[in-house]
Amino acid sequence: MQEYKSKFPNGFLWGSATSSFQVEGDIKNCDWYEAGLAKRVPLADSGPDHHIYYEKDFDIAAALGQNSQRISIEWSKIEPQEGQFDNSALEHYRKVLMAIRQRKMEPFVTIWHFSLPSWFSQKGGFTSKDAPKIFTRYAKFVVDGLGDLCKNFSTINEPEVYASNSYYRGVWPPFTVNAFKAWKTFNQLAKSHILAYKEIKKDHSEIKIGLVKDNIYFITDKVFLSKTLSKFLSWFWNRLFINKCKGFFDNIGVNYYFTKKIGIVRKVFPQSDMGWNLFAEGLYHILMELSVYNVPVYVTEVGIADEKDSYRAQYIEDLVYWTHKAIENGVDVRGFMYWSLLDNYEWAYGYEKKFGLVSYDVKTKERSIRPSAYKYKEICENNGIIK
Ligand code: BGC
Repeated sequence: MQEYKSKFPNGFLWGSATSSFQVEGDIKNCDWYEAGLAKRVPLADSGPDHHIYYEKDFDIAAALGQNSQRISIEWSKIEPQEGQFDNSALEHYRKVLMAIRQRKMEPFVTIWHFSLPSWFSQKGGFTSKDAPKIFTRYAKFVVDGLGDLCKNFSTINEPEVYASNSYYRGVWPPFTVNAFKAWKTFNQLAKSHILAYKEIKKDHSEIKIGLVKDNIYFITDKVFLSKTLSKFLSWFWNRLFINKCKGFFDNIGVNYYFTKKIGIVRKVFPQSDMGWNLFAEGLYHILMELSVYNVPVYVTEVGIADEKDSYRAQYIEDLVYWTHKAIENGVDVRGFMYWSLLDNYEWAYGYEKKFGLVSYDVKTKERSIRPSAYKYKEICENNGIIK
């Protein structure tokens, strides 16, 4: 008889995640594409064309034992001009969701994942006064149109990553370096989430609405100052946004990628191709930190840029192990989604960073499954790790 090292609760969701701009292709009416044309970031022109091949891609995901799939909706396709909604774009996403469901996978939809329609970015994006109303009108249209096919939506992906990269570090459109604007954006995103949550819930009380946070594990030495700083950073980066939205989410999606050292931490971590410190145990601490909110938690992204595929399989297994530890210690974790199903457009890094379980040929678009994907398949099919 096989023995489990970690057995997950029945009905646990195993899947992978993508976002529209990073995988679909043919998205031109948005800030990221324009920034590519202006050569401020790599041009998004040689991706996996998931808008054409989504059925094949979901065939692969299902064959890899996955029972859920996280995607996002491209705002610039749904609302190409302010207030004008495109029903054919909605129809496309209806087909995408049906394709997921036909393969017996549970869909998770992120309403907005970083790319802004050109008209909205020209108005100042989330810094504009009307942003919460504008976002809510779009979010409502999406859920009204797709809510019969999907029961789990999240409003906004990684609000603090967006606010800091776009308005503080200035490395993403609109390339602004202004702490005041970053703070304003952060607050406007919280207001946008809350308003969207309230409005959607009026008509769709059965639908679960969450938010997706990118949390960091701050590892520290024993010095008082370092510990205090790490506590402050955990509050500021990991929890402040959630606190602002308290009472207005049904679950939390958490994305975890790395640990940051505070003070003199001698431990040496393996690094991904992004140069990020890999520390699977950090996910456990991140999940424990979220237990105070008393809502279900989904690991909506964990992943590694690893072109050689030399570390991915072990890293996934370690992440699964620590997720299970968090469940054993009382955290209500309901799902685990690897970032990403496909190699994709890694924002300001373009196509050079390979996060995918599956790679593709730039010319033929043919998919190839990386060996590590089979390790993850075993875990998905066994609903945990078998010794
Ligand atoms: C984002 C993804 C991104 C991934 C890896 C997350 O911050 O949601 O869009 O590709 O991390 O950097």
